[in-house]
Amino acid sequence: MVDLENLLNFAESHMLNPELKDGIHGVKHWRRTAMIADMINKRAFYPNDIMAAPVIEMASVFHDIGRVSDAADPTHGYGGAGWLLKISTKNWDIRNNIQATAWGKVLDILIHHCEPGPGTFPEMQVVKDADKCDRFRLSEEGPDPSRLALNVTRDMLPEIKKFVRGNL
Ligand SMILES: [Fe+2]
Repeated sequence: MVDLENLLNFAESHMLNPELKDGIHGVKHWRRTAMIADMINKRAFYPNDIMAAPVIEMASVFHDIGRVSDAADPTHGYGGAGWLLKISTKNWDIRNNIQATAWGKVLDILIHHCEPGPGTFPEMQVVKDADKCDRFRLSEEGPDPSRLALNVTRDMLPEIKKFVRGNL
């Protein structure tokens, strides 16, 4: 997670709609989503996988960057992926930690993170679950457990709730 603050700063300074910065899908939500995803990832699939962690971190930070509104914004996944693809051709350094073969996963997660369903590969499942778990920022109830992809996330809900409510 060494690059998290750098990635967050980069994302914040390139927002499609800077007015959303402090909103419910803004920078604090990106940071918590990345940190929850890291917690889940360490417990679930890839505690030592050098490929998965950077993919999960980057997709978590950028997953909502395509938003133009905090209301229903059904195409923001495509918007974010298109933006990241374009910006990464001018800023190769943000891809430093992502192996070429894993880059498509980041884009895939951005495109599909807001669709219903558990996600189609483990890194996507981790990010989608983390995004849902940050619903604890909105209410004590948090996410609907039946909509989470991973049993490990369901098991972690009490500690995730504590983390989110302590980092609003
Ligand atoms: Fe989100």
